[in-house]
Amino acid sequence: MAITPTSDKVPPPFSLVIFGASGDLTRRKLIPAVYSLYRQQLLPQHFAVIGFARRDKSDDDFRAEMARAIREFVPVPPTGDLELADFTAHLHYHRSNFQDPQGYRSLRQRLEKCSPATDSPGNCLFYLATQPADFPEIVRQLSRVDLCQCGDTPKRWSRVIVEKPFGRDLFSARELNAQLRQSFEENQIFRIDHFLGKETVQNLFVLRFANTIFEPIWNHRYIDHVQITVSETLGLEGRGAFYEQTGALRDIVQNHLMHLLSLVAMEPPVSLDADAVRDEKVSVLKALRPTPLCMVRAQYAAGTVRDQPVCGYREEPGVDPRSQTETFVALKVMIDNWRWSGVPFYLRTGKRMPVRITEIDIYFKAVPRVLFNVRNTMVPNCLAIRIQPREGIALQFQAKPPGHVKDIQPCRLFFNYTDAFGMTPPDAYERLLLDAAFGDATLFTRSDEVEAAWKFLQPIVAESADSNRAPLPLYPAGSWGPPQADDLIETDGRKWQLTKMPPHK
Ligand code: BG6
Repeated sequence: MAITPTSDKVPPPFSLVIFGASGDLTRRKLIPAVYSLYRQQLLPQHFAVIGFARRDKSDDDFRAEMARAIREFVPVPPTGDLELADFTAHLHYHRSNFQDPQGYRSLRQRLEKCSPATDSPGNCLFYLATQPADFPEIVRQLSRVDLCQCGDTPKRWSRVIVEKPFGRDLFSARELNAQLRQSFEENQIFRIDHFLGKETVQNLFVLRFANTIFEPIWNHRYIDHVQITVSETLGLEGRGAFYEQTGALRDIVQNHLMHLLSLVAMEPPVSLDADAVRDEKVSVLKALRPTPLCMVRAQYAAGTVRDQPVCGYREEPGVDPRSQTETFVALKVMIDNWRWSGVPFYLRTGKRMPVRITEIDIYFKAVPRVLFNVRNTMVPNCLAIRIQPREGIALQFQAKPPGHVKDIQPCRLFFNYTDAFGMTPPDAYERLLLDAAFGDATLFTRSDEVEAAWKFLQPIVAESADSNRAPLPLYPAGSWGPPQADDLIETDGRKWQLTKMPPHK
C-alpha cells in the first residue's frame, strides 16, 4: 500500500505511453516527475516513455523539447548534458491522431521494440492526458490492438491512468466509468487526483492512525467544527476555455476537496489495502448531507494580487464576457454518521485569493465555562494541518505567560516537514506514477468514489446551472471571497481562520 513508503525496489520493466504528449501536463509535470524518479534510481533499467500526439515531430524534437522542460520544471536541475541525454534516450515520439487504427497498430510494434521481452509489448502504463472527450476512443482502439490485457495475466500487465475531470455530473461520470470498463477492468484503471500524491495529504492518514492521542478525540464529542481551505493566487493560466466548462465546483470541490474531507472524516480501515482504505472513504461520501442552501458561489473581478493588478475573470482570454462560471465556492457540509453528528465542515476554495494556502483546521470544543473560561473568551484548541506551502502541523493550546499576570495566552507547537526530514516533499506526480507502475491503487480514485462524490454534488451542480438563479456575486481579486462567504460561517458564530506557519529554518 502507498501510505507507508513503497519498498525501495524498482517496478518491473515497463513502457509509459502518454496520450496528449504535446500538452502542458506532459511538459510541466509528467516528464519532470519521470526524470526525478530516474535520477533517484527508482525506475527499472528497461523503461521507455512514448509520447503519443497529433503534431508532427521526430524523436529528436521531442527529446530536445522535454530536455528544456526538465531544465525549467525540475526542482533540482540536471548536473550535466550527459546525464540528461542518458535519460532522454528513453523517450520516443509517436505521431498519430486518436482515431486512426494504424496509429495503434504501429504503437504496438513500437512497444514490442521497447520491451525487453521478445515479441511482446511488455508491461504498459497508458496515461490519458487528453481532453476527456478522447478517452473512450483511445481505450477502444487500445483494446482493438490487444493492448489492454484484461484478466489473469501473470506475464505482463497493462494499466490506464485517467486524468480528471471524471465526468461533468453523475450521469457522465457513470458513462465514462462504463466506457473505461469496456476495455479495462476496475483494478487496471488508475484515476489520478494529484492531491492524493502530496506527502502532506498522505500524512493525514498517518497522523490519525499511527498516533494514540488523536483518534480518541476525533469525533463530535470533542470537535466543534472543521475548516478546509484550498486557496490559490493564480488565475486561469491560459486555461480559459477549459475553466469555462469546469468552474471551481468541478475543478476543485468534486475531487481535491472531497478527498481531503474524506481522509479527515473516514473510519480506520481494516487494513492498508487499497480497497479497504477506499471503502472507508466512500462511506464518508455516502454520509454527506446535501445542503444546497449553505453554499456560496462567486467570481473574481479585477483587483490586486501580491501587489500586481490583475484582470477580472470575464476579461481573461477564452472566457465569455457574461460568464456565470464560479471561481470561488464556500460550502457547509454535514456528515450524517455517528462520529460526526452535528459537526459542520466548512469548505472553501477560490482562485485569485490573497495567498496560496491549502489547510485543514480542526477546531476543538471550548472547555467548560468555569476556572479560566468564565466569560467564554478563550481561544479553542486547534490542530492546523498545512498541506501547502510551508508544509507542517500546528497545535494551538493555552499557556500562562510568565510573571504575575493572570491572563491565559494561546500558543502553538509547530512541526514542519523541511526541518524534520531535511527535504521538501517530492512532487505528487512522482509518487503517483511510481505507485501506478507498482500496481498500488490506494492513492487513486475508485469508480464508486467518483460516483459517490457526484451523487452528493449533483443537486448543487444542478442548482448552480439553473438559468433563473441570481447573477453570481463578484469578489475583488486578492480578497478572501464575497461577504456572503463570511456570512455562511458567521451565522453559526464561527469565523474563517488560517494558521500562520513559521518559515523553515
Ligand atoms: C488542478 C486544478 O487540479 O489543481 C487547477 O485543475 C489548480 O485549477 C491545481 O490550479 C492546484 O494544484 P496545486 O498542486 O498547484 O495546488
